[in-house]
Amino acid sequence: MTGQAAARPHVSHPVEALSGSARVPGDKSISHRALIFGALATGTTRVTGLLEGEDVLRTGAAMRALGAEVERGADGDWTIRGRGVGGLGEPADILDLGNSGTGARLIAGVLATHPITTFVTGDASLRRRPMGRVKVPLEQMGARFITRAGDRLPMAVIGAANPLPIEYRLPVASAQVKSAILLAGLVAPGRTTVIEPEATRDHTENLLRHFGATVTVAPDGKGGRIVSVTGEAELAGRDVVVPTDPSSAAFLAVAAAALPGSDLTLQGVGINPLRAGLYQTLREMGADLRFDNRRIEGGEPVADIVIRGARLKGVEVPAERAPSMIDEYPVLAVAAACAEGRTVMAGIQEMRVKESDRIAAVAAGLAANGIDYAETPDSLTVQGRGGRPRGGGKVVTHMDHRIAMSFLMLGLLAERAVTVDDVGMIDTSFPGFVGLMNRLGARIEVAA
Ligand code: S3P
Repeated sequence: MTGQAAARPHVSHPVEALSGSARVPGDKSISHRALIFGALATGTTRVTGLLEGEDVLRTGAAMRALGAEVERGADGDWTIRGRGVGGLGEPADILDLGNSGTGARLIAGVLATHPITTFVTGDASLRRRPMGRVKVPLEQMGARFITRAGDRLPMAVIGAANPLPIEYRLPVASAQVKSAILLAGLVAPGRTTVIEPEATRDHTENLLRHFGATVTVAPDGKGGRIVSVTGEAELAGRDVVVPTDPSSAAFLAVAAAALPGSDLTLQGVGINPLRAGLYQTLREMGADLRFDNRRIEGGEPVADIVIRGARLKGVEVPAERAPSMIDEYPVLAVAAACAEGRTVMAGIQEMRVKESDRIAAVAAGLAANGIDYAETPDSLTVQGRGGRPRGGGKVVTHMDHRIAMSFLMLGLLAERAVTVDDVGMIDTSFPGFVGLMNRLGARIEVAA
């Protein structure tokens, strides 16, 4: 089971360049949503390009436990036969969402307005993460929650038989919380509204519309958005084409961008502007990176990202960019370690409640590899050397896939090899990562 297998330390050796062409796995956010919305629809949903990572498979298993039919076809496409909005049934056992905050929080939204009682848990990392952020608004809609201290998993969700629509201002910019409320709102009578202080990824809004729900989005005049869904909705099964994940492509993009001599093409990557902050930041750092062959696939903008190695310089990343690259700061810190000068990442306090405390985990990884940094509760500053950072350190991943992949990238870029204590969690979001990297010129192997 996730996180309970023996640790698998790997070492990543310095290399000169990455080259070739690759297609990274499907988008994690969209994959979770495709399975959940398919389960809430009537009729059949067919999903092409689903991420078959552990996190998404857990969501698929949860939808099955709630009564949907979820199957993988021989061609790799997934088929979901849903139960209709409000039609899911009480699961006979605990739902275990593994490592996935997205799975746990979005599904909490679904459970909150079904008249069933469900028990939800996850692995040691997920059981440390806060669920109060979904519990508070979902209780306003009529659900009841029983959680461990600090609103942690395991928790019981007693869904509302007569849910109420709400208007809710998000205290933190979180697409997960926004999505949980909108999903709960599908069953409530009337309109459920979420006001987000800063625009966060809009896959829920886009896909809900694709499935036939009425969703409106308006600016709040202060940089945020007012998002409403009309309840007592009917969703109809649809075909969904999942673009490849910009958050997964980020690891390859950073390594290629910072290795002079690299020439890498990443095919069909999602470039939704609410996800693309890292790519903008890399360009500001002087990366030679372009979006070719821009097109719309499955309702999302995608492009082939072409990256050539270059010398990078430090930049200040504005706080308001954080929601569009929240999962990419760990690997940006690696790029920053190679850049000339200082990179300041502000307004990143949400990183502290991800699969690990990512500010602390990145800071410890930088320290172990001789890289200068400064940490505050909500920021990280990295002092680059304008060339290969020292490296040679051993990094603790804290059950966090993105910490593991980021520091494997550091090993390619550093003077000396970097060891990562466990790569097992990478399968949650990027199955086949080590093999793919090695095909493109990396030298990552099991530690001796
Ligand atoms: C996600 C939203 C983000 C992100 C996570 C996936 C989503 O979390 O970190 O990996 O699919 O909605 P928050 O919205 O809580 O910041």
